[in-house]
Amino acid sequence: MLTSADHRHAVITGASRGIGAAIAAELARAGMRLSLLARDEQALAHVCAECGEQAQAFACDVTDEAGVAAALAGARAAHGPVAILVNNAGIAHSAPIERLDSALWTQMLNVNLTGTYLCTRAAIGDMTAAGWGRIINIASTAGRTGYPYVSAYCAAKHGVIGFTRALARELASRGVTVNAVCPGYTETDMLEHAVSSITATTERTPEQARAALRKLNPQGRFVRPDEVASTVAWLCTPGADSVNGQSLVLAGGEVL
Ligand code: NAI
Repeated sequence: MLTSADHRHAVITGASRGIGAAIAAELARAGMRLSLLARDEQALAHVCAECGEQAQAFACDVTDEAGVAAALAGARAAHGPVAILVNNAGIAHSAPIERLDSALWTQMLNVNLTGTYLCTRAAIGDMTAAGWGRIINIASTAGRTGYPYVSAYCAAKHGVIGFTRALARELASRGVTVNAVCPGYTETDMLEHAVSSITATTERTPEQARAALRKLNPQGRFVRPDEVASTVAWLCTPGADSVNGQSLVLAGGEVL
């Protein structure tokens, strides 16, 4: 159970589905005031309604600096200074290096890494002014090791972990902790996208593709979005006050 973080204002990016929606539900249950950001207004409105009155939606593309500033201004007007930022918005497209063009490379870095930086910079002043804050970046096992055909995604997620480590040291004396959570394959649309890519480029059926991905996890299963959400909620508790600059792997024992 959360204690001192109850009722604090948490901003969650990419909250319209998947892991972001699960984090929103978990932090809503903990009593936090929520600002939910994503591009898809309709899906966001649905998640918002599920979270109850303490949640508000702000349509925003995390790669758009002005859009991020406007969303954070709206969030502050609704709920006051930001205490917790969960940088969850992300995309994962695959391509062998020969077909990894600069547009795809830039898109992977922009959404996964630059989006994390832009949202952090827009929120950090509130946290340092209050002398308390939590920045939680949803990275990936792809931030801790390499996987074939997703070099741009791996580069971006390794970047998120580097950003996390540096900022944790920089802000340690100002009451703000910065950590990353690194799930393995998790049951969301992103996983289904990976399965479709495998079936489109190999002879495998969707079930064979899922079995191959499940095998990466020593527990032989996919991670559930609620498991990622629980870890995020725990990082907001006083019990996690000294956890800083870490990248917590949720992958059933995959050694990275
Ligand atoms: P998802 O595809 O179901 O949801 C992604 C969310 O990010 C959506 O709400 C989408 O609208 C939002 N988003 C994407 N681009 C955006 C942009 N430019 N601006 C604002 N919002 C944007 O994916 P999932 O699985 O929920 O992923 C959430 C995070 O978890 C991502 O950072 C992903 O890289 C990470 N992750 C996912 C894993 C998986 O197997 N599903 C494994 C490891 C990490």
